[in-house]
Amino acid sequence: MLADVIDLLRCPHCGGDLELAGGVARCAAGHSFDVARQGYLNLLPGDARTGSADSAAMVRARVEFLVGGHYAPIAAAVADAAVDGAGDGPGRAIDLGAGTGYYLAAVLDRLPAARGLALDVSKHALRVAARAHPRIGAVGCDAWAGLPVRDDAAQLAINVFAPRDPAELARVLEPGGTLVVVTPNREHLAELVSAVGMLTVQERKRERLAGKLGGLFEPVGATAVERDLALDHAALAALVAMGPSARHLSEQEVERKIDALADPLTVTLSVTVATYRRA
Ligand SMILES: C[S@@+](CC[C@H](N)C(=O)[O-])C[C@H]1O[C@@H](n2cnc3c(N)ncnc32)[C@H](O)[C@@H]1O
Ligand SMILES: [Zn+2]
Repeated sequence: MLADVIDLLRCPHCGGDLELAGGVARCAAGHSFDVARQGYLNLLPGDARTGSADSAAMVRARVEFLVGGHYAPIAAAVADAAVDGAGDGPGRAIDLGAGTGYYLAAVLDRLPAARGLALDVSKHALRVAARAHPRIGAVGCDAWAGLPVRDDAAQLAINVFAPRDPAELARVLEPGGTLVVVTPNREHLAELVSAVGMLTVQERKRERLAGKLGGLFEPVGATAVERDLALDHAALAALVAMGPSARHLSEQEVERKIDALADPLTVTLSVTVATYRRA
């Protein structure tokens, strides 16, 4: 619910507090933002560049793939890390690049008193995230343009396969707050990189990430989540279509390549769930 998270937000133009009334969020300086019919609040400035936003087709594919439960072990590990990092459990959680809200919903299920703010630049993703959990409020913004979120707004932030600006994450997290970041390992979906031409994972992403978070965050721990997934052709198609490769490969090309694969095909899931504490 948006009303539950409005106090965590700030006006993207002047930084003032926002108030929600009659389907409009307003600051004292008179800047106003409409709540979309689908329940999310768009705080993107009118001239925002949204080229990296997931398309409607990508979001549909993501919903379809996640419903299959293949990434449930990642969601469980993120929720474990959130609960571990939080002691009694944080009241305010942010998911940056939340997509459909799948991981934030899993976290909120484990933290019954918490409310969650799902941030994403894709309106298609926000429509789904707004309904992903009764305690989620979904807000449109650009991770690279300064978050429309108040200083120290949250005790927990999660960031799953999504862009992150460490300085902004540090600003919106309370000192001592927990950051949980999920990044793919080199082996992740490797079978599809060769067979379908899926984009390769950048190597040593986690090390580079730790470097960037350094100074602002202290590493607390990291867990590898590794599984063999048996994916049928429909799941494979959804997996390819929900990722960045979808921008580079035609649907027909992907279909042809998937047709030539085993059904089901065994695909490696390998990601790191890393926890940091805001210094
Ligand atoms: C690979 S998806 C991950 C979504 C979700 N965390 C998950 O794992 O299911 C990346 C997400 O980041 C969002 N995104 C891309 N660029 C962004 C930006 N500049 N600011 C905020 N979100 C962005 C996309 O719209 C997409 O929902
Ligand atoms: Zn304002």
